[in-house]
Amino acid sequence: MSLSKVKVLFQWYKTSLVIIFLFLLNACQVQSYPEDHEQLSEEERIVIRFSHVVGEETPKGLASRKFAELVEERTDGYVEVQVFPNSFLYKDGEEIEALLAGDVQMLAPSTSKITELVPEWKVIDIPFAFENEEEIHDYLNSSAGKILEDKLVQKGFYPLAFWESGFKQVTNNRNALHYPEDFKGLEFRIMSSDILKEQFSLLGAHAQVETFDQVFPLLEQGVLNAQENTYSNIVSKNIHKVQDHLTVSNHGYLGYLVLINDDFWQSLPDEVQVIILDVMEEVTEWEIKKARELNVQEYEYLQECQCIDIHELSDEEKNTWEETLDPLYERFTEKYGAQYIHYLPRFLNY
Ligand code: LMR
Repeated sequence: MSLSKVKVLFQWYKTSLVIIFLFLLNACQVQSYPEDHEQLSEEERIVIRFSHVVGEETPKGLASRKFAELVEERTDGYVEVQVFPNSFLYKDGEEIEALLAGDVQMLAPSTSKITELVPEWKVIDIPFAFENEEEIHDYLNSSAGKILEDKLVQKGFYPLAFWESGFKQVTNNRNALHYPEDFKGLEFRIMSSDILKEQFSLLGAHAQVETFDQVFPLLEQGVLNAQENTYSNIVSKNIHKVQDHLTVSNHGYLGYLVLINDDFWQSLPDEVQVIILDVMEEVTEWEIKKARELNVQEYEYLQECQCIDIHELSDEEKNTWEETLDPLYERFTEKYGAQYIHYLPRFLNY
């Protein structure tokens, strides 16, 4: 074979290799972020299952739907977020396990419910620790908040945001609650955080952990006769229809950790992560406004519906609750150290 023929053959061989390489590269790109998303089957799309326990018209219900719509829109349907509200897929106590097992990819449990895995988060449950939402956000941005966030990452969660529900109020169907002695003998439903159990026991009542879906039936059947929750949860679950008295106490805070399974998060293409983070920032701002608006709206509704007796805790009454509940700070510090307590507003200036 002549030298020129060998050269031509070699050139042809090189060109073919380049073409094959470009073809393979293109195929890989198509697989990681396809162009024509309408044509994709469920297996080819990225599906995020987002489970939660509250109604669709609550701040968390509305925000999770908005998040799903925006993520789908901004990825042209490549990422589909399926939202399962109302404990439809998993109840409290099951959902965190399901997230870690990868059976769902996203959740937004209240901070109280993460305390079984990361007990230091109980700091948020300490009664009267925060006076308004700004204080909560400042706390979460403090060094203590950062340590709490790291603890979530160590357990296999990637925390995406903190959503609000609001301050909790107390309801029961026996008598108005003015002073600690009025709690005597009441049977409360609580979320799974033992600070909440101790809170009611210091006030002279009994409390038991029950899943959110059980609150209405247990109160309706009279198995329990009292509970604490935010206005939007009280009204959306019709709790006001099975309780006679509501005390406006704002004694504790209920907020949500929006969590995604960390292994799943790390497996997502960079461009998808960027879109999710952008959308989450926008939706979080919206959720916070919505939660505050809805609590005002539902409080007004409860005042007008004439369906529940409302008592506003006076400053003097509030002081007696605070004094009674004060030992909780020390108990928390003994168990988990002072580093979390020091950043609470009441200790910041000392
Ligand atoms: C509750 O169980 O009372 C709340 O955590 C429900 C919720 O998610 O707001």
